[in-house]
Amino acid sequence: MIITIDGAIATGKSTIAKKLARSIGFIYFDTGAMYRCLTYGILKNKIDAENAEQLSAFLENFHFEIKIKHGERHYFVDGEDITDAIRGTAVTANVSRIAAMKPVREKLVLIQREFAKGVNAVFEGRDMGTIVFPDAEVKVYLTGKPEVRALRRYEEFKAKYPEEYKDLTYEQTLEDINNRDRIDSTRDLSPLRQAEGACLIDTSDLQIDEIITRIQEFKDTRKTRFPAE
Ligand code: DC
Repeated sequence: MIITIDGAIATGKSTIAKKLARSIGFIYFDTGAMYRCLTYGILKNKIDAENAEQLSAFLENFHFEIKIKHGERHYFVDGEDITDAIRGTAVTANVSRIAAMKPVREKLVLIQREFAKGVNAVFEGRDMGTIVFPDAEVKVYLTGKPEVRALRRYEEFKAKYPEEYKDLTYEQTLEDINNRDRIDSTRDLSPLRQAEGACLIDTSDLQIDEIITRIQEFKDTRKTRFPAE
């Protein structure tokens, strides 16, 4: 069974998807991290992503690995552990632009579908229910007020990366969130939107466990429609 969780930045997607997957024994895939790994590779190798030939040669040779260390997911590109680097300012500032490119999306969609073969998994991202797994048995779409999401993201960055984000303000975070929402939802390819049949949850005023309970209830209703799982 595939469960897709899509939604805008800082709607709680990762926390919810990770916790849900753990509680039901599914594998968890963070597809935003995949776009971030690829963006890291482009920046590190100084690839001109607007140059079709350069981009295509880079994509042909691009590989990333996911390894579990002390129960946490670590991302590797060319043997380098880039788990922290992909959350840094350079990748964050460029990932929406890179993720809007057709060859980039084609490459990652293939990898995501490959990962999904024969497993029970929760896939978290922007286009999981609409494009990558339109036949997924359970689809969830998360929304939230920009102000609440900006505060969440601001507090998370300050706590996790105090040095890198020491000059960050709440106002900048809100502006960044509004900006990225606009790019992600208005881009031509795979824009962020609610998939058909997806359960819509506004996470602004809900606790993580309440959201997970709602998703599990929704999953149980879908089981009767897909009895084979
Ligand atoms: O979820 P995140 O903030 O780590 O995602 C990073 C970027 O990748 C974000 O700009 C949206 C993009 N993305 C995407 O286009 N499609 C996905 N399935 C996942 C993320």
